[in-house]
Amino acid sequence: MTITLQPVKGTRDFYPAEMRLRNWLFDIWRETSRQFGFEEYDACVLESEDLYIRKAGDEITEQLYAFDDKGGRRLALRPEMTPSLARLVLQRKNALSFPLKWFAIPQCFRYERMTRGRKREHYQWNADVVGQAGQTAEVEVLSVLLMSLEKMGLSPEQIRVHLNDRRILNAILEHIGVPEALHLPVMVVMDKRDKISGEALDTQLSELGLEAEQVSRLNDFLRMETLQQIGEALGHAGHAGDAGFSGALGEMRRLMETLEAVGFGGYCQFDITVVRGLSYYTGTVFEIRDAGGKLRAICGGGRYDSLLSAFGGDPVPAIGFGFGDVVILELLAEVGLLPELTPEIDYVVIPFSKDQVPAALTVGQALRRAGFRADADFGFRKLKRALQRAGEIGARKAVLLMPEELERGELVVRDMAAREEKRVAVEAFLASPE
Ligand code: HAM
Repeated sequence: MTITLQPVKGTRDFYPAEMRLRNWLFDIWRETSRQFGFEEYDACVLESEDLYIRKAGDEITEQLYAFDDKGGRRLALRPEMTPSLARLVLQRKNALSFPLKWFAIPQCFRYERMTRGRKREHYQWNADVVGQAGQTAEVEVLSVLLMSLEKMGLSPEQIRVHLNDRRILNAILEHIGVPEALHLPVMVVMDKRDKISGEALDTQLSELGLEAEQVSRLNDFLRMETLQQIGEALGHAGHAGDAGFSGALGEMRRLMETLEAVGFGGYCQFDITVVRGLSYYTGTVFEIRDAGGKLRAICGGGRYDSLLSAFGGDPVPAIGFGFGDVVILELLAEVGLLPELTPEIDYVVIPFSKDQVPAALTVGQALRRAGFRADADFGFRKLKRALQRAGEIGARKAVLLMPEELERGELVVRDMAAREEKRVAVEAFLASPE
């Protein structure tokens, strides 16, 4: 039997070179999360399928990798982290101290139609604030996000945050006479705007029960560019603190002002076409896209104040985002910001014959005890080849165990970059390696 050597379609292998890049990205995500006081959590990639079943016809539900286990349980590989987060919070609700600021970097699985930027497995940085109503949570999650992007070297010329509010979308649907029961299914369809043609989208909206006139009026609204235009078309001025939709318009204005005040204004724009495909969002929704508009969304998130109550608890305000590892690496490659990462090690200890192996092991261990990263090369190569390999594995220094020097009780320490060598007494080196 021959087995295929390729990874499963839509999944990736991570050789050390890819792993270096992945760790670089995860380190930025972790470090930025911690800078803002987010704490890391995790859960198992296997969950009960029920956790993802939603009435509105979310695409994610259709893309589940689900199966029966040997005990007859219906399980799924998680397609996203938010339902697991909600489950963890509800499980310990009385013991946890709110607000929670939690982050995770889960691997997620979706049986997607594969296009550029979408795979069947991806890692997704999530940062969520749970139990804090009000806009400071919005500002925090957007700030942690944008700060991580700045650490990658990105600026407003390359990335844009597109912001909207589900309450504004609800008001538009109500205004054009779409019954409330259809709001969520309509939004799930509207979210496909980037993936299917305008005609296909209109057809799907008609299939949901919208009249041709309603589809056309909805499209008129989606072409509007400013909050003011939308407010006027709906006959509201929009003040923060007003009830319902009018409040949402005012809050959106205030959010933009606050983001400006904390130095992120240059990235942000209101965009009525941002809907988000997940039905649990209730307020602010946002997506980060490349400024050229060529790639799929880099990141998406929003406020989901009723997900926890949908799982049987009391309503708890919550907001967060998911930021995948696929599109961001494509963007960084495109704009020339991918870092050049090479392996790095402080020392490689090189014996030239079997007789020197015990000395090599002792020196290597002394270096590690002193806090250095030390490898040993037991290939017994000629000096030139051994040094070439030391360069390939990224050694800063090489400790050469030459027969004659060793006989005299000396080691040769070579600085690889400077190509300088010095002789050092073995005892002294072992006592305090440098
Ligand atoms: P989402 O929009 O489904 O939201 O996914 C968020 C991000 O994950 C996307 O913007 C993209 O970067 C990445 N992503 C999603 N699917 C794929 C895929 N098939 N291949 C590669 N990357 C992908 C959520 O998952 C929400 N749970 C986010 C959230 C957290 N909302 C609140 N808290």
